[in-house]
Amino acid sequence: MNGHKIYVTRRIPDQGLDLLRTVADVEVNPDDAPLDRATLLAKAAECDGVLGLLTDRIDAEFFDAAPRLKGYANYAVGFDNIDVAEATRRKVPVSNTPGVLTHATAECAWALLFAVARRVAETDRVMRSGAWTGWGPLQFLGSGVTGKTLGIVGAGRIGTAFALMSRGFGMKVLYTSSSNRRNAVLDKELGAELVPFETMLERADYVSIHTPLTPQTRHLFDAAAFARMKSTAYLVNTARGPVIKEDDLVQALQSGEIAGAGLDVYENEPAMAPGLAERDNAVILPHVGSATTATREDMSTLAARNLMAMLDGRRPETCLNPELFDSRA
Ligand code: GLV
Ligand code: GLV
Repeated sequence: MNGHKIYVTRRIPDQGLDLLRTVADVEVNPDDAPLDRATLLAKAAECDGVLGLLTDRIDAEFFDAAPRLKGYANYAVGFDNIDVAEATRRKVPVSNTPGVLTHATAECAWALLFAVARRVAETDRVMRSGAWTGWGPLQFLGSGVTGKTLGIVGAGRIGTAFALMSRGFGMKVLYTSSSNRRNAVLDKELGAELVPFETMLERADYVSIHTPLTPQTRHLFDAAAFARMKSTAYLVNTARGPVIKEDDLVQALQSGEIAGAGLDVYENEPAMAPGLAERDNAVILPHVGSATTATREDMSTLAARNLMAMLDGRRPETCLNPELFDSRA
């Protein structure tokens, strides 16, 4: 114990907390609820390290409040909640949790894809209501997956894992890349095709979003995008809600501009756009992409190891501003 003080903004699996307690005095938000801003700033003022969530805004105001801060560890792969440039200006290292949640998130995207294409959630509701009258040839017809065209928006770790899982279904795979760079794994394993975004919209039967939220990807899917998509196509989003303009999506689902959507994330979580919850052709999950027991434990351990490295002045394994350590060397 070297007198370090750490604040954890919400209870996470014990694995990481136990690790942190071997090197520091650890305080955890006692409420299983998002931490309010004033408490976050007050706790940051007293701490050498903070482990926080995608619901915590880590910005100039946070760093102003945290003069002792030696590092911030995000319990998420997405880091649009962090002003990384500001952290770097202040020479505070920040980290995220890539890798450990890749397969869990890709699997969740497949769960959504099948659920919306085969109307799983909608027909589960019918069964529970007692309204089912027995088998019928014209009931609850959906869409198949085998041999169809799959579009991947953002072929990073998760997008690549998701695409590789399509092998069992013999799908034609298209992908987009903001840097227009080919993905060697997808090219070799799937004979995938790098295409412009508009081409993907026009050709894909299923489109799955795996891009980070950036100024360039905010509202990438708007009315114009839905108009380009096939009326028989489905959209899946396990990335970040604001990549979709949610009001436009509700409109597209209502008008039949697209066939359906499987969503794990929302533009203004935990709220949903008006009308979305009434759409039977939307499957809506509460941001559970990484929510398997083992994955959440791995995220806990990785975030803890990252924070411990930062308290020691070492580069964390998965650092978002590694240049801080180059300049010190
Ligand atoms: C979850 O949304 C994450 O970014 O890990
Ligand atoms: C996300 O950034 C990922 O593809 O792992």
